[in-house]
Amino acid sequence: MDALSNKDYYCKKHFCFGMTHTLISTIAILILGLSSCSKRVPTFVEVAPIIYKNCSGCHRPGQAGTMSLLTYSDCKKYAHTILYTTQSRFMPPWPADHNYVHFIDEKYLTEEEIKIIADWAEGGAPMGDSAAIPPVPDFPKGSELANPDMVIACPPFKIKGDNREKFIMVKVPFELPNDTFIRSIEFVPGNKKLLHHMNGHMIVFDNNKSSKDLYRQPFIIDRDTAYEISESAHNLNLLYDDGTTPLFIGSVANYLPGSSGIIYPENIGGYTAHKRNALLLRDIHYGATTVEQWDSSYFNIFFTDKKPLRPTREIQLGTLGISPIVPPLVIPPGKISTYKTNAVVPVDISLLTINPHMHLLGKSFWAYAIAPNGDSIRIVKIPKWDFRWQYNYTYPKPLIIPAGSTIYVEGVFDNTDKNPNNPFFPPRTVREPIGGNMKTTDEMFQLIMTYLPYKKGDENIDLAKNK
Ligand code: HEC
Repeated sequence: MDALSNKDYYCKKHFCFGMTHTLISTIAILILGLSSCSKRVPTFVEVAPIIYKNCSGCHRPGQAGTMSLLTYSDCKKYAHTILYTTQSRFMPPWPADHNYVHFIDEKYLTEEEIKIIADWAEGGAPMGDSAAIPPVPDFPKGSELANPDMVIACPPFKIKGDNREKFIMVKVPFELPNDTFIRSIEFVPGNKKLLHHMNGHMIVFDNNKSSKDLYRQPFIIDRDTAYEISESAHNLNLLYDDGTTPLFIGSVANYLPGSSGIIYPENIGGYTAHKRNALLLRDIHYGATTVEQWDSSYFNIFFTDKKPLRPTREIQLGTLGISPIVPPLVIPPGKISTYKTNAVVPVDISLLTINPHMHLLGKSFWAYAIAPNGDSIRIVKIPKWDFRWQYNYTYPKPLIIPAGSTIYVEGVFDNTDKNPNNPFFPPRTVREPIGGNMKTTDEMFQLIMTYLPYKKGDENIDLAKNK
């Protein structure tokens, strides 16, 4: 900004100076003055595509961003905040190191883009030729993915203002006219400030088996007071009348702060649904609030007429996963400590999406694999962990990890009073709870991986080609 005001001053001064002299020198100085002022200020015509691609997805009605950044007037109003937040790289949030591995929908501004925004904001945020401003992209409503074929609302939930974290289990039955195939299920949190995580599963009822009408009842169980409740299908009124259990499909939709759903190319992922189904939100976790609030979350369903040929699989390392954390995740106060976990991949896999997970003490996260031939395979590096942005990172093409490779994960936790996110002051020992609910103030260290058993040619699949 200083640079600009100096230049303004400089140009004005030359202009006045010129007026008091001969015609020739006036013209000369005018030309000089004009050319020195003529470093062209970018207009919104150049800024708009950067904003649409990197910002508007979140900064539009119904999404997480604080304000809308869709139109020229939106952006002009916030020009200076946009300048500061992009220059400091606070926005767009992208914690993964893009020099280490690329993912699809990467949100990252180049130095050049940051400069265009800065020059535009400092130059008075001009609009330019309104006819040349590219049209606002046609963002889907109520979804980060696409316009849904069906929306299933969860029963609204009142979050008491008792300043305690809440854990609930919710059953949301839904019926379809016919058996069909679901390509993707997206969970959209209603209360983005308080809803911290959700693990969603699906129950699919056989058309030929009867079950009491009970399955139709949505319900909400407060797990805080009833954590010991058996999660058996019987207690959840999810059994057939003959006592057998319907089909349970795990992890059809999950949510963490900043994460979004995924649609893979046709034939990857997807589920078969019948006429009667239920979504089982086995855990919704809300942060504490002192003011009563409501949550009305919902699911977007995307159908396909293609039978799912390659259902995805999910596995996790670390907390609640297949591999122990070394040393056990007990984080001493006043220290920065490193924890590791590793696992051998028994068969060739095509890794599609990863989700690194830690809580408030997380400082950095790093995962890679070493193949049997000694090659190292980069999985993800997050130099500066941020609890708010826990994306599902999807590779541009499946990342092939050959059988016999070892996946190594390293997490650093900052339990000092220098960590502004430390929930305890003074710091105290923080650990992963054994059983029971995972509070935000507990810690976790997890690498969740969505993958397929490898098939020849997987390395060439374009995972961004999913429309
Ligand atoms: C993944 C979603 C997402 C993307 C992408 C994103 N933002 Fe944001 N933005 C947010 C959220 C959420 C907040 C509120 C953050 C908070 O309060 O911690 C925010 C806050 C802001 C703020 C307000 C900061 C303040 O001090 O109040 C500005 C300005 C901003 N974003 C600009 C941008 C710009 C410019 C881009 C693109 C270059 C962008 N954002 C991309 C989600 C996003």
